[in-house]
Amino acid sequence: MTDTHAGPFIAAIDQGTTSSRCIVFDRDGRIVSVDQKEHEQIFPKPGWVEHDAAEIWTNVQEVVAGALAKAGIGKDDVKALGITNQRETTVLWDKATGEPVHNAIVWQDTRTDALCKELGRNVGQDRFRRETGLPLASYFAGPKIRWMLDNVEGLRERAERGEILFGTMDSWVIWNLTGGTEGGVHVTDVTNASRTLLMNLQTLSWDERILSSMEIPAAVLPEIRSSAEVYGTAKGALEGVPVASALGDQQAALFGQTCFAKGEAKSTYGTGTFLLLNTGETPVNSYNGLLTTVGYRIGDQAPVYALEGSIAVTGSLVQWMRDQMGLISTAAEIETLASSVEDNGGAYFVPAFSGLFAPYWRSDARGVIAGLTRYVTKAHIARAVLEATAWQTREIVDAMAKDSGVELTALKVDGGMTSNNLLMQTIADALDAPVVRPMVAETTCLGAAYAAGLAVGFWQDTDELRANWRRAAEWTPRMDAATRDREYKNWLKAVERTMGWIE
Ligand code: G3P
Repeated sequence: MTDTHAGPFIAAIDQGTTSSRCIVFDRDGRIVSVDQKEHEQIFPKPGWVEHDAAEIWTNVQEVVAGALAKAGIGKDDVKALGITNQRETTVLWDKATGEPVHNAIVWQDTRTDALCKELGRNVGQDRFRRETGLPLASYFAGPKIRWMLDNVEGLRERAERGEILFGTMDSWVIWNLTGGTEGGVHVTDVTNASRTLLMNLQTLSWDERILSSMEIPAAVLPEIRSSAEVYGTAKGALEGVPVASALGDQQAALFGQTCFAKGEAKSTYGTGTFLLLNTGETPVNSYNGLLTTVGYRIGDQAPVYALEGSIAVTGSLVQWMRDQMGLISTAAEIETLASSVEDNGGAYFVPAFSGLFAPYWRSDARGVIAGLTRYVTKAHIARAVLEATAWQTREIVDAMAKDSGVELTALKVDGGMTSNNLLMQTIADALDAPVVRPMVAETTCLGAAYAAGLAVGFWQDTDELRANWRRAAEWTPRMDAATRDREYKNWLKAVERTMGWIE
């Protein structure tokens, strides 16, 4: 820690898809220290993605200790701890031993496809949309719970006897942090619960009718709490520190970007990309393939809702180019490679690796590279990789304008991919709108820290948080309208080619 950072501090844990990290923040919302550790991505079959929840819990403890050590502070300097997490990823564990009963099934996993189709038979994909704001899709946690109950021997009986707990990663981390088998609290927050397909958006409680349709015993479910309140106190290295916030990572980024007013939106570029628009205190239905979700709820204040456009594969496409294809050796190289050519050479890459999320919700889609000729080089493909993120963003922004009537004047962005200047320029070009990045691009952790700080009175109100937001960079559109229209049309043609691949 440098002496420019005066304590006390707030710490936040971000349990993400590829890594867990802990960041310590000061009162101005500036980063004091960061520690991060990746965990294994397990791909047992095509379309299946798993994590080892025990490995993740070990990593979480290590990064908390690491971030405190790097900051040169002890637990008494930390006024509260916030949690944010990859959403939907599902763990079931034994209450008595704390052992997960199966690897966690990750949000990207498509194994529950057939189950979702079956649940929607005769009624359609929108069977539970009115209650939950979500289509029936393999993305969400509910069908993943059902899969484990059906496929792990004896699990359903144990679950019905009350011996098994379910959680998304927030619940798993909070339960362990607050004592685990020695009295850990079993809670989730409204934002994470809103991604299960099991929570009613109006009542903010588990929907009994849906639980019974999905054959999920209520005994496994955590208590649904607000996103900013003290759930319990930590044990171990942070002994006594209040655990005071939980938000799904995309909602945390909305909070960290201080999108507190209706009509404010952000887009986070990580493994996937998620654009959320604050729609105020009433949920807005989507007719254009977006999700209705809870944005956040501070203590007993009214909940704030959001419309979300979710894109499954953006940063993970760059990782795939590096790890599976070996076309680049670091993620940053994609920019250098793509910048070595003027354009995509006619190639379009639609990375429908987990089917297509918003606005299509087609789990039968699989990835394609279209428009190939002998002329195309790996540099053109690199360019098509970046353009895939930009055009997918454009599709979401178009759907959002139709659903909300709000035309985007600028897009607030954050996440790891925002360090890629060419990508940011390409997004501004695809949207024909400026793209703006704040000083602290780690808005996910920041949002969790803000919520925890509000819960313990470290910050007084959202106005104080808003004052911390500062612009670091802006990209303005440069592409002419004719090129934009032609490229977008070609992209949409390529998207068509992905559909119906899986019977
Ligand atoms: O819904 C999935 C999302 O929460 C994952 O985010 O940043 O871990 O890829 P990220």
